[in-house]
Amino acid sequence: MNQPIQPLRIALVGYGKMGREVERIALDRGMEITARIDIDSPSASTDEVRKADVAVHFAIPATVQMHVEELARLRKPIVVGTTGWTKQAQAIQSIVESEGIGLVYASNFSVGVNIMYRLLREAGSLFDRFAEYDVSVHEVHHKDKLDAPSGTALSIADVLLNTIKRKRGVLSGSPEGKIRPEELQVTSGRYGAVVGIHRVTFDSMADSIEIVHTAKNRTGFALGAVVAAEWVKDKKGMFTFEDVLADLFKQPR
Ligand SMILES: NC(=O)c1ccc[n+]([C@@H]2O[C@H](COP(=O)([O-])OP(=O)(O)OC[C@H]3O[C@@H](n4cnc5c(N)ncnc54)[C@H](OP(=O)(O)O)[C@@H]3O)[C@@H](O)[C@H]2O)c1
Repeated sequence: MNQPIQPLRIALVGYGKMGREVERIALDRGMEITARIDIDSPSASTDEVRKADVAVHFAIPATVQMHVEELARLRKPIVVGTTGWTKQAQAIQSIVESEGIGLVYASNFSVGVNIMYRLLREAGSLFDRFAEYDVSVHEVHHKDKLDAPSGTALSIADVLLNTIKRKRGVLSGSPEGKIRPEELQVTSGRYGAVVGIHRVTFDSMADSIEIVHTAKNRTGFALGAVVAAEWVKDKKGMFTFEDVLADLFKQPR
């Protein structure tokens, strides 16, 4: 007789705007939430977390390394949506590798943004041939966001630096005097309740092309994180959401 399929059990590490949205989507898909970790119960080494198949982290950047250490000790695969921890990336990668767990991270779990990265890779390699065009990145988020520029803007900048040879580094913010031509300017706006806007502008004397992603709500991020949680539960190693999507795009529809 076939065994009934056990629904995925998720521990939510961080139970704010994103944690709650992940919960809504996961419950909609018949999954179970075993733990909700927040500032009042900040340890991820609880009995409720032990019962989970996967942990999903949407908390604050300062907690990422500590939580990854705790979760790795429990041998829990992790989806990290929290942004602003690139300085700890090396340390986190060593923990993941030495403990043999799986971790998927992305500064942006929306499918739309990940498709935008692909469009930008193509656009960047075309504009690389035309020095008349300059390129810049502008992002806007709500007034409570902790990090600037956003992790997504930095991922976009990476794609552009890897495809447009005349751009060699990021200038986040305003230049002192004139901007150097090899600098890729990344600017940020923080106001109101904006969920997230990322705008890339290719501009010349003749014309201008813009590629813009506008998040309408948090659903797209949460859905991507839940898809990543299903995917990573039996994997080992560090992955990005682009790896998850590349794998899913390979599967027959
Ligand atoms: N990758 C993506 O697609 C994506 C999309 C959106 C947002 N993000 C990122 O996700 C993160 C969370 O965003 P959000 O909008 O959900 O923020 P939020 O609403 O402020 O939620 C943060 C959560 O972290 C909890 N927290 C704070 N300190 C903690 C600690 N020491 N231990 C455990 N939990 C702690 C907070 O608890 P209290 O509520 O009790 O203070 C809250 O539940 C941010 O880094 C944001 O940039 C990523």
